[in-house]
Amino acid sequence: MHMEIINNKPIYGIGIESSCDETGIAISQNGNKILANPVYTQIDFHAQYGGVVPESASRLHLEKIAPMLQESFSTAGITPDQLSYVAVTVRPGLVGSLLVGYYTARALADFYEIPLIPIHHLEAHLYAIEIAGIPVQYPFLGLLLSGGNSAIYKVEGLSNITTMGDTLDDAAGEALDKAAALLNLSYPGGPVIEKLARSFANKGEEKFDVLREKGGVRNLARNPLPKILATQPSDKYEFSFSGIKTALYYLLEKKEKTYTPEHLAWAFQERVFEIVLRNVTNALTNKKFPRLVAAGGVLANQTLKKQLAEAAQKTNTEFISPPPELCTDNGAMIAALGFRYFQNGNFENLSQEVTSSKKWGV
Ligand code: KG4
Repeated sequence: MHMEIINNKPIYGIGIESSCDETGIAISQNGNKILANPVYTQIDFHAQYGGVVPESASRLHLEKIAPMLQESFSTAGITPDQLSYVAVTVRPGLVGSLLVGYYTARALADFYEIPLIPIHHLEAHLYAIEIAGIPVQYPFLGLLLSGGNSAIYKVEGLSNITTMGDTLDDAAGEALDKAAALLNLSYPGGPVIEKLARSFANKGEEKFDVLREKGGVRNLARNPLPKILATQPSDKYEFSFSGIKTALYYLLEKKEKTYTPEHLAWAFQERVFEIVLRNVTNALTNKKFPRLVAAGGVLANQTLKKQLAEAAQKTNTEFISPPPELCTDNGAMIAALGFRYFQNGNFENLSQEVTSSKKWGV
């Protein structure tokens, strides 16, 4: 069955996100028009532990989800009986957190007798561009970099996604968060590292030249951290970030006051982005995708966005990425992708597909 927008009658849907440390409940009209999109982030709570505490994350979702539902309906100016579908993230994520969103969605869907559409969180990130008014067009190269995942995908249609490369260890955001912890910076690490790295880069080339100590002058290595996966063949697109983190750890252990935190933040970020850019450039060169869609929390980084845009331009690829507020977790992207599936109809196999480890490998 294929659903149409009949007589221009709007289709309202709700998107529920609770896979990690953000509770998001969005109400959309025809998928991409967002009527309400409150997001509650638990970052301040988890910051005191330097990372997400799963049990606390579930409990905070539980506290917030009911009042946020009410808030969403009141902001959107509709009532739950006007909904046509409920879309909810079912994977990947912290299982306790996912269950809070899932059972909230299930209650709505069962009570109002409307379809419950299970959403794969990573696929939804790639559809966040629709909320920014850019319709998804296939095929495209999908790049996802977040606190929990780092992967590159060939996307040929709705749910027609092939993983081309994944991380062998940490996710990019996770690595930035851990590096920030090693440097005694605040959580989440990505934005702080970006700020320090930019301030270091703005100082110009002379910053590398000399270190004056005890009357002597020493040249500093531009980047004291090792290149990772330097010998990976150009038709492989795996990521690895934990080695750079270990190298940073040992550099700091030496307790030499040689490198400033700004320099190390810049060096770490450069190494992380280097792998991303290498994989993206190789994939675009080998497979000739017309467009690159990049999303996930790490894409809030302006330096990375600029570098990816330049890499795409070199291969005549259109570069598309959502604005920063839509790069991080939110309910709007869940509602937007949910609308696509709703229009497509046939939800029978969807649950199996979305929850299948074979298909997604995560
Ligand atoms: O997609 P996201 O909001 O959710 C989770 O995966 O939980 O991504 C969060 C990640 C964190 O690791 C954070 O450090 C990173 O995105 N991040 C950034 C920036 N803003 C957030 N990384 C680099 N630069 C940023 N400006």
